[in-house]
Amino acid sequence: MAKPMFVDRQYEQDPRSVAVDAYTSSHLLNPTRNKFHNALKHAYDNALANGLPDIGCSPTQGKFLSIQVLIAGAKNILELGTLGGYSAIWLASTGPEVKVTSVEVNPHHKRVAEENITAAGLSDQITVLLGPGLEVLPRLQEEVQAGRQAKFDFVFIDADKENNLNYFKLAMDMVKPRTPIYIDNIVRKGRLVDEEAIKSGEKNVLGARQCVEGVGKDNRVEGVVIQTVSEKNYDGFLLAVVK
Ligand code: DHB
Ligand code: MG
Repeated sequence: MAKPMFVDRQYEQDPRSVAVDAYTSSHLLNPTRNKFHNALKHAYDNALANGLPDIGCSPTQGKFLSIQVLIAGAKNILELGTLGGYSAIWLASTGPEVKVTSVEVNPHHKRVAEENITAAGLSDQITVLLGPGLEVLPRLQEEVQAGRQAKFDFVFIDADKENNLNYFKLAMDMVKPRTPIYIDNIVRKGRLVDEEAIKSGEKNVLGARQCVEGVGKDNRVEGVVIQTVSEKNYDGFLLAVVK
């Protein structure tokens, strides 16, 4: 079996999940049928070689996102947290007409992502905007209001977890009806409901809880959390759909 990609960080890996990902990927993520396979592998390796943290999507999660884009028929995707561009490449790989606007706060990450996006031949489809989401999203809202940027029809929030709910709210002003909004890393090995984590004010956990509770109160969307296991951690995402 191939060496799991995430084994050297502190991931909680059940060997069964790792083996299931390896087996199912060998049939369903066939490199010869994905013209972006080499570009994705390069993006992953190049990000690590440039010192980026190993916290991006796994191949299976990337493919899952790309299938969600296909189901939604999305053409204008907003991503928060570009990191090395790996998930943006998956999102844009769904078709030449698909545009991704991705926000990244770290200039080094942005540079590496742009290298990877160019190597994938996707620089016409993916734009990386530099800056904190809380500054970039209001500027993007102005562009949408002025008609210079199309409304978004798919959102992937995968940045600093404290601002999950803020990003969700800002994105809500720029989306079409029926837009899926995915928010990554909500479950966090179950720490979402861990009394110690909550009491000690663990900010990623508080950010995830604020998001679950805020989305739950928002009548403009329907939301759900799906727990996931994989070659990565036991984690899970929140999916909200705009009514
Ligand atoms: C972390 C962040 C992520 O977006 C992720 O998918 C996994 C881990 C982190 O900050 O550790
Ligand atoms: Mg994530």
